[in-house]
Amino acid sequence: MKEIAEHVLDIVQNSLFSGASGVEIDITEDLQRDRIRVMIKDNGCGMDEDLLAKVLDPFVTTRSKRTGLGLPLLAQTAELANGEVKISSQVKQGTQVYLDIQRSHWDCPPLGNVVDTVVSCLSDHVELMFVHRLLGLEGGLVGEVVLDTKEIKEELDGVSVSHPEVLLFIRKMLIQEYQRLEGSK
Ligand SMILES: Nc1ncnc2c1ncn2[C@@H]1O[C@H](COP(=O)(O)OP(=O)(O)O)[C@@H](O)[C@H]1O
Ligand SMILES: [Mg+2]
Repeated sequence: MKEIAEHVLDIVQNSLFSGASGVEIDITEDLQRDRIRVMIKDNGCGMDEDLLAKVLDPFVTTRSKRTGLGLPLLAQTAELANGEVKISSQVKQGTQVYLDIQRSHWDCPPLGNVVDTVVSCLSDHVELMFVHRLLGLEGGLVGEVVLDTKEIKEELDGVSVSHPEVLLFIRKMLIQEYQRLEGSK
């Protein structure tokens, strides 16, 4: 079974292949409704209606070499964990992939290493906006982890966001933020 972070990596990789200059990753753990929702949105090349209609078919790819059943596996995870996948896309506008699964379900995969997934998606050519929020039993926001590469790049003042020391710094910062989030569960 793929962890949620591995699914996110697959889907963001599709976004990066699509020539996007902006990608949004939004993870919401909703304790009140007992759901985990993941939204990944890009402004890449998009898909036409024909491709969109058959994109969950495991035999469909537009690549010369498959990169790994990203969308069919996501759909399978949703099916197993009492959830759904929705994909919307428009040519030259971009694509939005949405996963909504039951958090307490036996077949709900563990979150996995979201930090390293996010860090591995950082690049100078793409603006990444990442949010992981936790909604508590009363439905209100308990805590969140946010990373906005636009802000980071301004502070870096020309230094590459994929410079090893920058990556390590961002990783450390995210780990600390997740520790805070875990503490508020
Ligand atoms: N974000 C996206 N933007 C544009 N096309 C996409 C996107 N995500 C998926 N696709 C299209 O759907 C196909 C299937 O994606 P996927 O299931 O991840 O398998 P693979 O990446 O191995 O082809 C891709 O080959 C691509 O044509
Ligand atoms: Mg893929």
